Amino acid sequence: MINKNSKIFVAGHKGLIGSAIIRRLDILNYKKVITISKKDLDLRDQKKVLKFLSKIKPDAVILAAAKVGGIEANNTLRGEFIYDNLSIQNSVIHSSYVAGVKNLIFLGSSCIYPKLSKQPIKEKYLLSGYLEKTNEPYAIAKIAGIKLCESYNKQYNLNYKCLMPCNAYGINDDYDPIKSHFFPALIKKIVDAIKYRKETIYIWGNGKPLRELICSDDIADACIFFLKKKTSETLINIGTGKDKSITEYAKLIMDHLGVKLKIHYKNNKPNGTMRKLLDVSLANNYGWRYKTTLKKGLSITLNDYLERNLIN
Ligand SMILES: NC(=O)c1ccc[n+]([C@@H]2O[C@H](COP(=O)([O-])OP(=O)(O)OC[C@H]3O[C@@H](n4cnc5c(N)ncnc54)[C@H](OP(=O)(O)O)[C@@H]3O)[C@@H](O)[C@H]2O)c1
Repeated sequence: MINKNSKIFVAGHKGLIGSAIIRRLDILNYKKVITISKKDLDLRDQKKVLKFLSKIKPDAVILAAAKVGGIEANNTLRGEFIYDNLSIQNSVIHSSYVAGVKNLIFLGSSCIYPKLSKQPIKEKYLLSGYLEKTNEPYAIAKIAGIKLCESYNKQYNLNYKCLMPCNAYGINDDYDPIKSHFFPALIKKIVDAIKYRKETIYIWGNGKPLRELICSDDIADACIFFLKKKTSETLINIGTGKDKSITEYAKLIMDHLGVKLKIHYKNNKPNGTMRKLLDVSLANNYGWRYKTTLKKGLSITLNDYLERNLIN
């Protein structure tokens, strides 16, 4: 059983979700949290990962390290997205098993589900249709990670869970124009427009795709909740159960910052999947629910972004 004295290895602790997990474990007074930076351990290197895990012998592993990005990065760095993610997962999940780790959380994403899935998306819809082409390599890698955990649970009687969050946002997000997801990209575009006194922002596609957003602190909370929970399912959706269009999110950020900018839609750029609303009833039935409202989460995120960019 995992408790505050358990040794927990968090892989990817500098990322958006990994850093939220570290903050949450710290608040909850977990005393033995282990991290290692990418320069000291490339998680794609299975030999080195096995050596590391065999030495530290954690009670649990949370795998929040991955090659991650928005539509542009997913679509153009297709080789890196499939190779890095398959390699990181194979290394960390297999080495955890070999090192005797019984409890593991593997983070995936809602893009594993079919492009034209019935909504809201239940866990059982996995592999029931074609994937969205722009992020197919990433999704295939994540699906392989889920199947690895499912197979290891069955064959080796382990407690490896795969949490599939919707789009995340929060403190320490990535605002790089090429790599960022739609929400931090919107924040940057709007803040930059204010900073450089522009009247218009540009949005990829027609602004109509619906997206579900969850604060990274709530994903961190779900990781710790499900690490301690006995479940019969390996795959569990994590979300709020609510979505809005990209245009609505842009207007929300503008309202929050007290500006009204014109939106120009780049219709020659892809929309991505039109809707991917998760059915979160399984997580809810186990007693987990998101806590951070969009208003509160947006405020925390904007403060973090403005502070980091010293422009408030
Ligand atoms: N962001 C979202 O909207 C979202 C939504 C749903 C699910 N998720 C999932 O949550 C997980 C974490 O996502 P995130 O948004 O927190 O990503 P992130 O901010 O990009 O963080 C990923 C972390 O992984 C590390 N990493 C990447 N390649 C590595 C390697 N070869 N060896 C060691 N470390 C490596 C990165 O280290 P460096 O910083 O040193 O490169 C970084 O700390 C991913 O599995 C993702 O699929 C994310």
